[in-house]
Amino acid sequence: MSSRTRTLAIDPGSPDPSAITEAARVLRSGGLVAFATETVYGLGADATNPEAVARIFEAKGRPSFNPLIVHVHDLALARACVTEWPERAERLAKRFWPGPLTLLLPRSAIIPDIVTAGRGTVGVRMPASPLACALIEATGRPIAAPSANRSTGISPTEAWHVQKDLDGKIDMILDGGKTNVGIESTVLDLSCDPPRVLRPGSVTIEQLSLELGEEVLGPGPAGEKPIAHSSPGQMLVHYAPTTPTYRVERMGSPPLPSSGNSHWGLIMLGDPLGEESSTKGPAHHIRLRTPAEAEAGLYASLHDLDSRRLDFLILLFPPDEPEWLAIRDRAWRASKPWPEAGHQL
Ligand code: TXA
Ligand code: MG
Repeated sequence: MSSRTRTLAIDPGSPDPSAITEAARVLRSGGLVAFATETVYGLGADATNPEAVARIFEAKGRPSFNPLIVHVHDLALARACVTEWPERAERLAKRFWPGPLTLLLPRSAIIPDIVTAGRGTVGVRMPASPLACALIEATGRPIAAPSANRSTGISPTEAWHVQKDLDGKIDMILDGGKTNVGIESTVLDLSCDPPRVLRPGSVTIEQLSLELGEEVLGPGPAGEKPIAHSSPGQMLVHYAPTTPTYRVERMGSPPLPSSGNSHWGLIMLGDPLGEESSTKGPAHHIRLRTPAEAEAGLYASLHDLDSRRLDFLILLFPPDEPEWLAIRDRAWRASKPWPEAGHQL
């Protein structure tokens, strides 16, 4: 692939048309462009070009069984990617698009096998970022785009996160600054009845269920063995920093370490519940109090702490409540259980 990656700074709310034209030209000729969406940076290729899509898998080291989400800028293009557009899709698109919701529907003939890993359904999303929509519109094709990180690594929420993983392996990065939602879209399977969320995100199961006026199933607890309906990308180890990262539940957990000789980092998710006294040890301490704060800041915090050469990181888990589902899911996949007493770190 490309030996040089060009980075263009671009205003995500009012993108410069000449930069968009240039990036669209790269995509139309089969190249790879990473771009900011409102969730995380995506690594885009023309979804109708199987050779271009193959380069995404190569650059990320992504297993070929893991399907990609296709991005569209309007409803006409969304409908061209699928063979059915049910009433449920219409309602949800009206309410949540453009935005962080991906709908799985039966795929049409314009979407090649490689995009869906041979599956009969395709994930379609209309991103809220004007930059992303302008890029899709200028390209004139649906854009396949997974998160722009190496497979199983932490998703990027800033351009330097993309550079760290993919510099030299892709053609271009559109640097639109920090993404504001900060975790990946909610993935909802509309090909089954009742609909099922395969990946929780900032659009919650409760919001989807309220909009549809019917039950929407959840993904099952993180850590459940992958089951037939689950999303192939929901691997048990994912979003993982290179620094050993452990999870600690706030209730009934072993005590946090005292400083000793270790340099370690702590990310506290949720409101502190009197743990203040036990948090003197970490060299770096980040607190993300609300679900929205945690969604916007979790990956950025992991990237930051992971670059500091610490001995280990601890994620202090938020309460097991519906509004924390997406964060618990990502934090769970980024971590291992805190070692039992006596276990060497
Ligand atoms: O917010 C997002 O969704 C970001 C931005 C770039 O749009 N994209 C993203 O893509 O997170 P990726 O590839 O990192 O995650 C897509 C997830 C994976 O877990 C994949 O397995 C699942 O969606 N997925 C995609 N198409 C699917 C399909 N047809 N059936 C089941 N799961 C699917
Ligand atoms: Mg990803």
